[in-house]
Amino acid sequence: MHKIYFATGNAHKLREAKNILGDVGYEVEQLDCDYPELQADDLETISAYGARWCADKLDRDVMVDDSGIFIDALNGFPGPYSRYVEDHLGNQKVLKLMEGETNRKAVFRTVVGFCLPDGEPRTFTGEVVGTISLEERGTHGFGYDPIFLYEDQTFSELEDIKKNRVSHRGNAMRKFARWLELNLR
Ligand code: IMP
Repeated sequence: MHKIYFATGNAHKLREAKNILGDVGYEVEQLDCDYPELQADDLETISAYGARWCADKLDRDVMVDDSGIFIDALNGFPGPYSRYVEDHLGNQKVLKLMEGETNRKAVFRTVVGFCLPDGEPRTFTGEVVGTISLEERGTHGFGYDPIFLYEDQTFSELEDIKKNRVSHRGNAMRKFARWLELNLR
């Protein structure tokens, strides 16, 4: 199998997936499958549910990507609620919550979910450790990229190619590709 069907409405995730998986020999095709966002405390459950829901609905193999940022000083918040927080608070309010905090550690996590029709979903987790910046910086990327510092640059200051090499999504998708190589190709 050389093609991966990616159920996402997020053009940034799609672009990154095409580059990450393209580098290891897979073509990525976007699928229109708006699966219900399950309310759960962990990304694995949400991702597995989404992959299975789309595989059942479309009767084909499907990959999904659920991601979140886990901030140490906020006890892992927003984590699985990252989308809600971005939509309703935004990066400036997150920075406000972090005002005066000296522990600025944060982990970005992606869980790739994959399911074959009538199969059991599998998940592949990738992480990157960084810190929350003091202000928004950079013009690339999306979401929390302007406030997520990897070493001394925010993800928004990095070109895609550099972000993908170290990112949560890169790590999760390369793990998935290795599994595909061993199991389905
Ligand atoms: P979801 O996986 O689309 O539910 O993403 C959760 C939240 O994290 C959304 O607000 C996304 O914009 C954000 N997000 C997901 N991946 C990234 C990333 O690679 N960089 C920055 N923000 C991201």
